[in-house]
Amino acid sequence: MSSVPKMGCGWPGDHILSSDLESLPGVGKELAKKLVNGGHPTIESIIVSPPKEISENTGIGFNTILKIQNAAREAFNVGFRMALEFYEKRRQMPRCTTGSKRLDEIQGGGVEAQALTELIGEYGKGKTQLCMMLAVTAQLPPEEGGLGGNVAFIDTEGTFMPERIYQIAEARSLDPKKIANNILVARAYNSNHQGLLIDHLFTVVPENNVKLVVVDSMISHFRGEYIGRDNLAERQQKLNMYLHKLIRLAEAYNIAVIITNQVQTNPAQYFGSPIHPAGGNVMAHACTHRVMIKKGS
Ligand SMILES: Nc1ncnc2c1ncn2[C@@H]1O[C@H](COP(=O)(O)OP(=O)(O)OP(=O)(O)O)[C@@H](O)[C@H]1O
Ligand SMILES: [Mg+2]
Repeated sequence: MSSVPKMGCGWPGDHILSSDLESLPGVGKELAKKLVNGGHPTIESIIVSPPKEISENTGIGFNTILKIQNAAREAFNVGFRMALEFYEKRRQMPRCTTGSKRLDEIQGGGVEAQALTELIGEYGKGKTQLCMMLAVTAQLPPEEGGLGGNVAFIDTEGTFMPERIYQIAEARSLDPKKIANNILVARAYNSNHQGLLIDHLFTVVPENNVKLVVVDSMISHFRGEYIGRDNLAERQQKLNMYLHKLIRLAEAYNIAVIITNQVQTNPAQYFGSPIHPAGGNVMAHACTHRVMIKKGS
């Protein structure tokens, strides 16, 4: 067992990923194997995940997980830092172009890494199209506005179209075959399956150099499965849990996460727009940035 060098750079996502779990004090071959098999293949995912969740995923005792987490935080020097340093870091945060100058400007230069960005809109307003555009632009090198990495796309509505990826790539004089070969697509058939795929991202992202994760749409299965007020609390709890997993994923691996959201109409509202993002407060609190797409004149 080798000792972990002090990285001294603060928070996860700041530095090169470390999958060398055995370098942590107290973690031998057996524990490392359990952590990897339980979906925690990197030190970053151990730092950001709640101990109860790691314990449940891996079968390792809660107290042992607490010790491993302390060792990981110590190794990565996770703690306080000056706001100035944080400011400089945020200025250099990777951003991904949407292909639209105006939309990039609204988001401070593009879709931000280490953040959860929500695209909201009525049906047919272009959410999926924008996600597919980002699945292409994210692969561009940073100097061309991309994130220089691959993409993981969770499609919950069966609307991901590889043909559209080809069109977008060809329009930008990129090799469509190469672009399509760098997008990992999974179709989620229900909310439970969607949750499993999100859990799986903690392994898929570091193993495949994924820099952008898309969940299109985040809410449709939840809305379809948890009908009525009686089921609302359970729906919101589950939704909240997965949203927070996505935030942790974004922070741990320094990647951008995009989710799409639908709208709901309040027929009792007489003043102002009766159209609101679905998912209520849970969605509003969890997302770092909210972008509402509306039809222009
Ligand atoms: N290949 C294409 N090229 C250009 N525009 C397209 C193409 N395919 C679909 N569109 C247009 O894109 C628009 C938006 O479709 P999109 O599927 O992105 O909507 P959405 O916001 O995801 O809707 P939903 O809430 O139903 O999922 C539609 O008006 C459609 O006509
Ligand atoms: Mg769509």
